Amino acid sequence: MSQADLKQFTLEEVKKHNDSRSCWIVIHDIVYDVTKFLEEHPGGEEVLLEQAGSFGTEPFEDVGHSTDARELMKDFVIGEIVDADKEAPLKSSSTTHPSSSTSESSWASWLIPITIAIAAALVYRLVVSSNSS
Ligand code: HEM
Repeated sequence: MSQADLKQFTLEEVKKHNDSRSCWIVIHDIVYDVTKFLEEHPGGEEVLLEQAGSFGTEPFEDVGHSTDARELMKDFVIGEIVDADKEAPLKSSSTTHPSSSTSESSWASWLIPITIAIAAALVYRLVVSSNSS
């Protein structure tokens, strides 16, 4: 996915552009200069400034940006992060493995409705049996 003609930036360099005078954000290891886009961003400039000078891949994906947004961001590409500083979401120790965390949370999200359903069925049977007697 790396494009050969992209300018290479170190994370050190990106970190310098962390305010509204110069705001760079790294999404999927591509460096974006969103300084001119701050005021136009439909999600507001605050969220962009929070990520300024660093990686914004996770919050960007969490929002579920549209394909229009993804097209638009191409206008702001200024380069790519050097290999040594690339984001490594799966290898990083700070983030848990996505598949294991989703299976855990889906367990919890199933358990609660099932418990409620069983409780409701029991209450319903109690009501029905007390009405018919
Ligand atoms: C170059 C980078 C970016 C571009 C071009 C961009 C563009 C857009 C666009 C066009 C929208 C309107 C909704 C849509 O079409 O999906 C939007 C909404 C939004 N964006 Fe971004 N965005 C960028 C980066 C980010 C980042 C890094 C964050 C978070 C830190 C962020 C947070 C949001 C939020 C919170 C909304 C509002 C969603 C809503 O109201 O439903 N954006 N963005």
